[in-house]
Amino acid sequence: MAPAGVFEPAKAVAAPGQSAAAFDQKVINRISADRMYEDVYHLTETIGPRVAGTPAEKETTDFIKERLLSYGYDVEIQEFAIGDTVLGHLQTDAGNEVLVNVPAGSAATADTGLTASLYDGGLGYPEDFSTEAVGKIALISRGGIPFAEKVNNAYAAGAVGVLIYNNIEQPGPINPSLGSAAVQIPVGGITKASGEALLADVEAVGGNVTLTVSAIENATSQNIIATRTPKKGGGDGIVHVTAHYDSVPFAAGASDNASGTATALEIARVLKSYPIDEEVRFAFVGAEEIGLVGSRYYVSQLSQDEISRSIGNFNMDMVGTSWENATAIYMNTLDGQPNIVSETAAATGKRIGTPSELILYQRGASDHVPFYEAGIAAVNFIRREPGTANLEPYYHTPLDTIEFVSAERLKEAGDLVGASVYQLIKK
Ligand code: BES
Ligand code: ZN
Repeated sequence: MAPAGVFEPAKAVAAPGQSAAAFDQKVINRISADRMYEDVYHLTETIGPRVAGTPAEKETTDFIKERLLSYGYDVEIQEFAIGDTVLGHLQTDAGNEVLVNVPAGSAATADTGLTASLYDGGLGYPEDFSTEAVGKIALISRGGIPFAEKVNNAYAAGAVGVLIYNNIEQPGPINPSLGSAAVQIPVGGITKASGEALLADVEAVGGNVTLTVSAIENATSQNIIATRTPKKGGGDGIVHVTAHYDSVPFAAGASDNASGTATALEIARVLKSYPIDEEVRFAFVGAEEIGLVGSRYYVSQLSQDEISRSIGNFNMDMVGTSWENATAIYMNTLDGQPNIVSETAAATGKRIGTPSELILYQRGASDHVPFYEAGIAAVNFIRREPGTANLEPYYHTPLDTIEFVSAERLKEAGDLVGASVYQLIKK
């Protein structure tokens, strides 16, 4: 920013309220609901789940990078390690794919998978196993004893693998966490419905299944960073716009967070063509769902100088749900206090008449956390139910698809955040 007393023509001539509204219009007239919706479609229906470290996450990186290059940005790919992960795949004899979650600590299978017939292992108590279990994959219900104990009992009885099915209806397969225990055989978690269907198979045809557990060692994820700096003579501030593009397994991650990704891409497109006085960086971060790994890495790579020049962080995570109760846009800050980002957005919302209520709220759990921890004003924009702060019921399930994404709500977020960012960087 210019030192006090330096004459800044663009900002000094018009009455502030009036010019701010004119600047808003330059942005919101061009933010396109259709473009954002199409990008959500591509991310969720064409690519699908974008789990950290997988080829789908890499494919998404390329998509975002190419798009930002086409807008004329300088683009940097920032790669970082995410450690080891396990991936599962389960198929029946008949060729049907069954959604399976593999917990950390499971043994891996050969590349070709483990093919065996199923054994009904009840709840997985020692007395649930007979000599019939030898060489089979034990199908065990959740309940009674810890998952690791079920697996160890099955192993002791000679089973070569374990599938644990849920005992309550949940849309996604359960993750049968083994805690810190490592077990000798491969383990997968499946839904109640899948478990019951497989159990019926055992009784009727004694069907085979093929369980494949592959370990991805030394996996990496990456951030895509598009930067635009002002021409000579501009300020030295930096505004960071972030959205994570990875998803949890089995979820297309339409609301969480193709919505934020598509909105950030659209804001980047619109803001590319206007003169700016402060630097803007769009950081599309990976590996959020495994613990904010991408955003932590991004912030860790900022120099002390860049941190002190940072004006704020606008983070969009889950901005497009069509869930009818989510009528409010929450502005989550770590301390629940307003900051320059939330105050700028609140003022913008008033000027442009954002239809949704804007609620300041104390909450972390997204990519604004590392910015806050580095002393940078940060807000996570997220749709929730006013009063309860509930998220949509599809959150982190296979039902998080484009079916429950609203083009109008994407537009609302794009207008609000786009116009707010512009207020802070405009010339
Ligand atoms: N978008 C979600 C949920 C979210 C965001 C909840 C902001 C609350 C506020 C996010 O991707 C998520 O699932 N976060 C994890 C925590 C993270 C550290 C792995 C969560 O809330 O379980
Ligand atoms: Zn998210």
